[in-house]
Amino acid sequence: KELRIIGVPSDLGQGRRGVDMGPSAIRYAGLSTALEQLGYTVKDLGNINVPTPEMNELNRNSKLRYLHEVKEVAENLSAIIRSVTENGHLPIVLGGDHSIAIGSLAGMAQSSQNYGVIWFDAHGDMNTADTTPSGNIHGMPLAVSLGYGDPSLVALGGLTQKVQAKNVVLVGIRSIDSDEANLIREAGIRCYTMAEIDRRGMAEVMAEAIQIATDGTDGIHLSLDLDALDPMFAPGVGTPVNGGVTYREGHLAMEMLAASGALVSVDVVEVNPILDDGNRTAQMAVELVESLFGKTVL
Ligand code: ARG
Ligand code: MN
Ligand code: MN
Ligand code: MN
Repeated sequence: KELRIIGVPSDLGQGRRGVDMGPSAIRYAGLSTALEQLGYTVKDLGNINVPTPEMNELNRNSKLRYLHEVKEVAENLSAIIRSVTENGHLPIVLGGDHSIAIGSLAGMAQSSQNYGVIWFDAHGDMNTADTTPSGNIHGMPLAVSLGYGDPSLVALGGLTQKVQAKNVVLVGIRSIDSDEANLIREAGIRCYTMAEIDRRGMAEVMAEAIQIATDGTDGIHLSLDLDALDPMFAPGVGTPVNGGVTYREGHLAMEMLAASGALVSVDVVEVNPILDDGNRTAQMAVELVESLFGKTVL
């Protein structure tokens, strides 16, 4: 399969803090070359146009910050994802904050792929306008994709539900807001917390996660938030939380996904070069993507 890279330099979903530079940082860390070395044909489609928060005409007074703009970006991204998958190629979306996953999942749903989702994250991203402590839409994309929350976001791309809850898993979770927890339970999505990963090990957890995401589907969308990793390995993220996935666990998870052969699309989000130590977090992202696309030692 040929790969297509799409950059989405957005930090509208989390305020102006530097994740808009994520696509550059990940490219600079050598993503395309690394994938070509694994034998793939890779085409970088460049960045989609994202307004910057400094623009005067932006709508700042909605309860959900930059709602209108986040929605437009997601709409544009979904159209690109759709054309990429309709041409038989696999999209790699570089964020940007995690709100852009609203567009990725809408695009996948429009390309008539019946897919499951592995949401690799420290956070649940299951807030709605009623539960958000911050108003930041990057805390909401999974809820939106399951049909909960702001009606204009939920309606994006036609279908109100982009993925079925029974095919969604959260992995790496260690920070959930109290009302967000209720929605995770109500929606019935399987949530693998760090505590469960500690107890059972990443191998067992990922085997189950892959099972759930592929049950009755045509493949897996991986939404990879770099803050799933421990800040020791990925310090350059906007919302770091201690006690995360280790370097080894991260690679194991990606290798198991590669071995499943089920990957149909991927987001790599929340890399923030301003908060990074050199460009380590983008480098970590590139290494994880290499494992995801089959890199092995021998
Ligand atoms: N739960 C917090 C909020 O709603 C943080 C969300 C962080 N999400 C992320 N994609 N990093 O604001
Ligand atoms: Mn407009
Ligand atoms: Mn996230
Ligand atoms: Mn997160």
